[in-house]
Amino acid sequence: MFKTLAFPDNFLWGSAVSAHQTEGNNTNSDWWEWEQKGGGKEPSKEACDFYNRYKEDISLVKKLNQNAFRLSIEWAKIEPEEGKFSSKETEHYKKVLEELKKNNIKTFVTLHHFTNPVWFTKKGGWLNPKSPQIFCNYAKYCQDNFSDLVDFWITINEPTVYAGQSYFFGLWPPQKRNVLKTAVAFINMIKTHNRCVSVLKKPAGIAHNVVRFDSATKYPWDNLLSKILNKFLADGVLFLCTKKQGFIGVNYYFQYKITNLRLSFDYSLGKTDMKWPVAPEGLYKVLINLKKYKKPLYITENGCADSKDAIRKLYIGCHLESVHRAIEAGADVKGYFHWSLMDNFEWHLGFKPRFGLIEIERENNLKRVVRPSARYYAKVCEKNLLLSQKSNLKSQILIPQIYGLNMWL
Ligand code: BGC
Repeated sequence: MFKTLAFPDNFLWGSAVSAHQTEGNNTNSDWWEWEQKGGGKEPSKEACDFYNRYKEDISLVKKLNQNAFRLSIEWAKIEPEEGKFSSKETEHYKKVLEELKKNNIKTFVTLHHFTNPVWFTKKGGWLNPKSPQIFCNYAKYCQDNFSDLVDFWITINEPTVYAGQSYFFGLWPPQKRNVLKTAVAFINMIKTHNRCVSVLKKPAGIAHNVVRFDSATKYPWDNLLSKILNKFLADGVLFLCTKKQGFIGVNYYFQYKITNLRLSFDYSLGKTDMKWPVAPEGLYKVLINLKKYKKPLYITENGCADSKDAIRKLYIGCHLESVHRAIEAGADVKGYFHWSLMDNFEWHLGFKPRFGLIEIERENNLKRVVRPSARYYAKVCEKNLLLSQKSNLKSQILIPQIYGLNMWL
């Protein structure tokens, strides 16, 4: 009765985190400085204390049958002063990466995930024309010190999101609202990425946040606008990336519908706590569009804020079905990382949005509690397949049968 959707051999199954969001005490970073001045809803403080509890967390990754893990190295910790690298922090990250290796877990290591050392921002941050060179010194240091323990590098996480939030919407430090600055920061990040790819000796890629736009009508203007937005925001970034990058990292969360030139969300499959729609079809279309780059594709982030764990299984199941369909249609997808392993610091929104497969009980000494959806995902990872029954996806009641959840819980 169930259709079995088997994934390719050696498919990588994992989850993702970033340093500032989980480690805690990122005291030399621009974000920390901004939080102390009252920026955002609440300060990150000890975050999830992943810095001290990484062994426990990695053992959970293992128990949940994941064979890959995405994490980031914190530039502000590794290079607290320009050109002075911290041997203490270098040793720390070596230990974390060694722990992953001991557990036979492939490592995807991000070098920049939204945060900068304070000294770098004092020099103009990403507006500084020397930023690519400055960042690549740090990348070279990471290459020299961690390369043996790294399987894949991610140079920069979501340059469009960073430039947009920091310089266009003014929501993140340095909170400058200026179109020209947005473009300069973005271009410098792309230049940095292209330069770093040659510095790093293991396959290196960008993690690009791809939002999908689709017309909800038959009007030619809606069709045209969706084409323009998809071209500009998906391909506009990837066309600028060097052909030498080893893979493309895709961060996918949701899709917009366009009706009479207006953007809206279609909530017919459900809504996350961020009020983002569950929109798996968008992921399929994104992956099909990326086939033309002829690079391996990794879903480096996909997930939902869902404090009650009410829709996460559905979210995982239907997005993985899209991934499987895209693979069958020729997309070279080689891995999937759920965002996130654990509830963490959701930037200017603080700790309220709960993206974790694992709940962090903030009032109970940051206790880790594995959510039911994590156990479901663990089954998928273990078996390298998904059970699916392509019936009426729109009915929430049918969902448990559709994805064989009852069988696997
Ligand atoms: C970012 C993460 C963030 C997630 C959920 C992604 O754009 O890379 O850091 O937590 O979205 O908002």
